[in-house]
Amino acid sequence: MEAVFLLFTYIRGQLEDRHTIFNMSNFNPRLIFLIGFMGAGKSHVGKLLSEEMKLPFFDLDEYIEGKADKTILSIFQEEGEEAFRILERKCLRDFAVIGNAVIAIGGGTPCYFDNAEWMNEHGVTIYLKASPELLAKRLASGKDHRPLIAGLSTESLLDFISGKLKERSEFYESASVVVDQENGEKDVVEEIFRNFTNITGH
Ligand code: S3P
Repeated sequence: MEAVFLLFTYIRGQLEDRHTIFNMSNFNPRLIFLIGFMGAGKSHVGKLLSEEMKLPFFDLDEYIEGKADKTILSIFQEEGEEAFRILERKCLRDFAVIGNAVIAIGGGTPCYFDNAEWMNEHGVTIYLKASPELLAKRLASGKDHRPLIAGLSTESLLDFISGKLKERSEFYESASVVVDQENGEKDVVEEIFRNFTNITGH
């Protein structure tokens, strides 16, 4: 009950911010999950996509932070990664009750428990693919609030990303749609939209 209340408070905030119009009643599947490594542009592209599709946008990390009332960094530091992954799994499932929406999820979300399967059952997953070099470039300046890379030097960042990306690729690549987003954000949204139309037939 508390989870549902929190989710609706969060949704109301998002809708007030964006004046989003729900006008896609025949739209199936209901949820569009943006997946990919940290720095892949999930939130940014997700917002652009949601505007294009007139759908509400949600960010799983933001929702987790609201629910835990602390930052992702504090959750990792105070409770550990395992506790974070359990909370992440639970928060992801809270989205089962909302209508059509675009959701940016965390970089690790599809790689734990049966999260990837769950997302594919409840909507479509779109993998925003990017090279380790591009990710390292983007992440170099904003590492400090990301627990997995906060302590890394700029030099070791690329090695870390390359290794982790190898471990996670099979989960990312199992997405309904894989979009290489090296060609600029606007093209990415167009490519997602084209692919999405192919999948849903709408
Ligand atoms: C993580 C990615 C983060 C956040 C947490 C763990 C990961 O989300 O969920 O720090 O395991 O890759 P972003 O991908 O939005 O940075």
